[in-house]
Amino acid sequence: MSALDKMNEALRNLSGGLIGENTKADVGDAMAAFGGEDYDMMAWADPFMPDFSMKPKMVEKLCELIKAPAAAHYTAPVGNSELKQAIARKLKRKNDLEVNANSNIIITPGSDAGLFFAMAPFLGKGDEVLIPCPSYPNNFQNCEIMGAVPVKVPLKAENGYQLEIAEFESRLTEKTKMVVLTHPNNPTTTVFNEKSLNDLRDFIVKNDLVLIVDQAFEDHIYDGRKFITPASLEGLWERTVSVFSVSKGFGLSGLRVGYNVAPTQLMDKYYASAVAIVGAASTIAQQAVIEAFEDPQYMDEFYAAFERRRRVVCEILSEVPDIKVDMPESGFLLWIDVGRLGGGAEVSRVLAQQAHVIVNDGAGYGAPEGIRIVIGVYRDDERVYAAMRKVAACLTELAKR
Ligand SMILES: Cc1ncc(COP(=O)(O)O)c(C=O)c1O
Repeated sequence: MSALDKMNEALRNLSGGLIGENTKADVGDAMAAFGGEDYDMMAWADPFMPDFSMKPKMVEKLCELIKAPAAAHYTAPVGNSELKQAIARKLKRKNDLEVNANSNIIITPGSDAGLFFAMAPFLGKGDEVLIPCPSYPNNFQNCEIMGAVPVKVPLKAENGYQLEIAEFESRLTEKTKMVVLTHPNNPTTTVFNEKSLNDLRDFIVKNDLVLIVDQAFEDHIYDGRKFITPASLEGLWERTVSVFSVSKGFGLSGLRVGYNVAPTQLMDKYYASAVAIVGAASTIAQQAVIEAFEDPQYMDEFYAAFERRRRVVCEILSEVPDIKVDMPESGFLLWIDVGRLGGGAEVSRVLAQQAHVIVNDGAGYGAPEGIRIVIGVYRDDERVYAAMRKVAACLTELAKR
């Protein structure tokens, strides 16, 4: 038996792009496209990537921080307490959550680590996890790595991708332990409405489940939609772990800072295991992001760019036959059902080969009929629009075939 054969099955079946084929956006060939001048890389959800986008005052702050003695040293695994105070103020202001900074918040090295950390203590072999679908690939993969079973709960375009509790109920078994919700959703950008979240709350409480909510995209919500933080709903706080990030909202993905919020009883266990599971986030990154939390205008430039782009991009795609493009409800992603044009795998392959635009195949999101396009990349609006015109031309050709 080789060492590989001793690995857990879920990990053994993955490919990291070193051996064999890989179609994921974060390793292998797709990654190499970043370096290719004649490619437009629209498959990474990172504001303005790969262009320079850090605010001058953040640059100054980081330069100042790196000269201090603390820069070379650990911050406690549970996080910088000044940052946690700033986050507690933000949670009150924006999320309707009144929390204790010293017992309800833990800083993570980004929300991917935060999401894994949030799920891990609850899941073991055979536990079932209800996951609205399409949604973020890690929701499914994390379950599999933990030996749990991701159970896909379909979201439907005709219902605006909102939650339908009958679909959850019909998949409930005695092994169901958790619901994982990406809110707003990636890739559909759906902001789950009051009815969806109240119904979900009733379902979770009635069936004694745990809720993990990933709010990485909570910062850009359009058209006056109300954004509700599920943990603020009566009955959910005690059984919810909320996962947050500074990557999308502040455009600071390179600093690797996220944070999880949970009731004290659960947080005690996260504090106890933090050093073993996630280590600690960067000392200077934690100090630097305090600046962003305390500046309400920090996000304005990102927000204005994404708001402008979603309108122009939808306009560019509006003439393409056989697809219906819905205006993003949040963030800087675009989700398109290309089922009638050959499906996500085929369409993303053709876009890469013929338009030289790299997008995500929906299969990773549990929805092989779709593609995801990140319209928040690059500083230059015109570069994004030019790429989208190539996408529109290519999709129109596909529709004619
Ligand atoms: C829904 C969602 N959650 C979490 C993350 C991870 O973000 P980070 O680890 O940079 O905080 C991403 C990144 O794409 C995401 O799309």
